[in-house]
Amino acid sequence: MIPATNQRPPATILFIFGGSGDLNLRKLTPALYNLFIDNYLPERFSVVGLGRSSYTDESFRERLLEGVQEFSRRKNGPDDTWKSFAPTISYLQMDAGDAGAYTKLSDYVASKKSEWGELPNVVFYLAVAPQLVPGIATNLGKLPLCGDKSHVRIVVEKPFGHDLKTAQELNTLLGGLFAEEQIYRIDHYLGKETVQNILALRFANSLFEPIWNRRYVEYVQITASETVGLEGRGGYYEGSGALRDMIQNHLLQMLCMVATEAPISFDANEVRNKKVDVLNAIRRIKPEQVNDVAVRGQYGPGKKDDKDIPGYRQEEGVKPDSSTETFAAVKLFVDNWRWEDVPFYLRTGKSLPEKATVITIQFKPAPYYAFPEEATQSWQPNRLTIGIQPAMDIRLRFQAKRPGQTLAIDPVEMVFSYKDAYAGQEPEAYETLLLDVMTGDATLFMRADQVEAAWKVVTPILEAWSSETPDFPNYAPGSWGPEAAMQLVEKDGFQWMAK
Ligand code: BG6
Repeated sequence: MIPATNQRPPATILFIFGGSGDLNLRKLTPALYNLFIDNYLPERFSVVGLGRSSYTDESFRERLLEGVQEFSRRKNGPDDTWKSFAPTISYLQMDAGDAGAYTKLSDYVASKKSEWGELPNVVFYLAVAPQLVPGIATNLGKLPLCGDKSHVRIVVEKPFGHDLKTAQELNTLLGGLFAEEQIYRIDHYLGKETVQNILALRFANSLFEPIWNRRYVEYVQITASETVGLEGRGGYYEGSGALRDMIQNHLLQMLCMVATEAPISFDANEVRNKKVDVLNAIRRIKPEQVNDVAVRGQYGPGKKDDKDIPGYRQEEGVKPDSSTETFAAVKLFVDNWRWEDVPFYLRTGKSLPEKATVITIQFKPAPYYAFPEEATQSWQPNRLTIGIQPAMDIRLRFQAKRPGQTLAIDPVEMVFSYKDAYAGQEPEAYETLLLDVMTGDATLFMRADQVEAAWKVVTPILEAWSSETPDFPNYAPGSWGPEAAMQLVEKDGFQWMAK
């Protein structure tokens, strides 16, 4: 986040490894383009796409423009803003595996330094497959310029490791090459406006905090559902699965936002310390408990809107007997004074009925009803629903008297909607995160210990699941996942919130 004074970041060169890849096309360049339109990019700015494919600057820009026209929240309109933005983009053909090629990067920085008359910030963005990260980081680490802690940063995309051990190894490797404050580990959910707003809701208001604890909260639910299947990502997803792909990072980070204690400042380390405290407080699941608190699923073939949908096992790049889960639900507890014994239910999956990320805080029932029984037939406990996406809203459910001469109490909702409250479009997560990297604000990025603490939470589940062959497929595409996921909450007397 940048201060309200709207200072633009200092001169910056952004090198993107995987320049012609999907992430750059769909997310990074559209984000930079929108930052440009909103006047947030540094006055002196250069973005350099790196890759093995052969492009000229011109053909690379044309390729990226296609991405902007398809994926950006703002397209290149009649005013042709792209034409003003395009000259900041160039392309450098290089094989990231060739250690000798990295001097091209130092040379480029040196040439910009003399052209601009100042030493720019240099950001290396690794938008590449995870197996390429160690090699690229090692080669970058050998460049003398990377020793400059205040000017040089490296951005690493998820997945950060495949499990606790590989995440630790990657942290050790990166830690040997860069200082922690140079390493920006992305979890794009943290860049979402509505996720950041959780802290504003909780700590800029005095209303919620006094009831934000085990005394008043019955349970918390976090759902991130997707309608899509694999979208051609079988090669990656097959080695990942829903627990690694979504719960270990995005859902646990949202849990941290809901459960954290109040930070004393918005200093990056203060906020991250508080979040690590939450992760460390999550009750360790014993191997024999895994089946009681975790459910996995995989969608089979079926029909959606009268169209035949292939099952996960029929998707490209997936083994015909794959045990990879496309759905995961877990029940966690945060063992501390605030949250002891309040269940946190997390669920995510592909090929579900809707694309929605929603956090629900369900409050305990009122302790006593003086109303006659027939007046409270449709009574429901208070509930705060935080719509992360696509609906961006906050809904508070409470009881009201139905107008009329008979006494009847109904649940009603008070709604705050971003769309109604604020004109204009909100920035995309990558806009916020790229700007933060350029300004050097690591608050919304994962620190080494945070990533490892998150892996520790899911490790017992991963281990238990890898030792048993699941009975897959076990849910139909377009359904809310396997039956066992319903039972996970129903056995506690609750229900999943569909929205
Ligand atoms: C990514 C996962 O991190 O998040 C994808 O790898 C998933 O599998 C995506 O589809 C969801 O992100 P969003 O922002 O569309 O909810």
